[in-house]
Amino acid sequence: MPETARRDVTVDVLLTPDHAARALRADAASGLRASPKWLAPKWFYDTRGSELFEEITRLPEYYPTRAEREILHTRSADIAAQTSAHTLVELGSGSSEKTRLLLDALHDHGTLRQFVPLDVSESALRDAISAIAEDYPELTVHGVVGDFTAHLDDLPGEAPRLVAFLGGTIGNLIPAERAVFYRSIRDVLEPGEYLLLGTDLVKSPDVLVPAYDDAAGVTAEFNRNVLRVLNRELGADFDVDAFTHVAVWNAEQEWIEMRLRAMREMRVRIPELDLVATFAKGEELGTEVSAKFRREVVETELAAAGFALQSWWTDSGDRFALSLARAH
Ligand code: SAH
Ligand code: TRP
Repeated sequence: MPETARRDVTVDVLLTPDHAARALRADAASGLRASPKWLAPKWFYDTRGSELFEEITRLPEYYPTRAEREILHTRSADIAAQTSAHTLVELGSGSSEKTRLLLDALHDHGTLRQFVPLDVSESALRDAISAIAEDYPELTVHGVVGDFTAHLDDLPGEAPRLVAFLGGTIGNLIPAERAVFYRSIRDVLEPGEYLLLGTDLVKSPDVLVPAYDDAAGVTAEFNRNVLRVLNRELGADFDVDAFTHVAVWNAEQEWIEMRLRAMREMRVRIPELDLVATFAKGEELGTEVSAKFRREVVETELAAAGFALQSWWTDSGDRFALSLARAH
């Protein structure tokens, strides 16, 4: 049955193309004038970016998706029993592939009624929703095209809710942003509702760096895609192939830093910003961090936001963790 023929599938667009265009302009204007230059990561995820990310999840070097899936496979029944959630909310839901393990477990537990995926990428969200609506005909699906740092206030769905934030995406926020984000989730929940958080763990850079700099060059394409977004949306003239992908482990901050390095001197015109950005040869543009975690850090930060860590599970290789935390 086509998505539109079902009464119980809806999509709210809170992040309209117009609002997104304005936000991109503001972010690019401040980031490209700063020193060092930087760009906010959510702009990776246009249609092509979301496809490239899905390709990353299948790379041999990119272990987080497989590790998290293993944990979900082993623990979903336990998660369903502990939460008895009626609504599964998923932030930064992407393809929602792994999420099916949670939907299945909550269905088997007998409590599942609604699924509320939220993502900034409209194409990824719509694809995920049509696949899930087809495979879960009894489920009410209410998608939201939105920004999880701005649009949590009006999330639909009846209590008790389980908010899932998977994929280690929390690591893409810096610590100050994380604190605000955890608090904003806690603010929309009632005591006794739950957060399920996926975090990649601190480990050897010999494993971490290849996960963000794969041999096939997919991550490099993903990183460079942000320049294509600027060319398309802001009329910029970045020579995308003149930038190389850089991934470095910052041992002090315990995060991977993704950057784009200019291989030659460049002047980039960005007409929509009325800006000409100059790059020295070798100059780097910061695009994303991916923080790695330890249990104490996760537990302390969640506690500061009003969540009690109720379960902590890792995969058999101790590479990735899932935390189940109760709002109090
Ligand atoms: N949860 C999926 C996807 C992780 S990739 C998984 O575990 O595989 C990160 C996802 O978050 C992408 O789908 C991206 O579009 C989305 N995203 C990134 N920044 C966002 C923001 N500020 N608001 C909403 N979604 C965002
Ligand atoms: N949430 C993912 C992560 O931090 C996002 C990601 C994977 C990513 N590979 C990337 C972001 C490469 C930028 C560049 O693991």
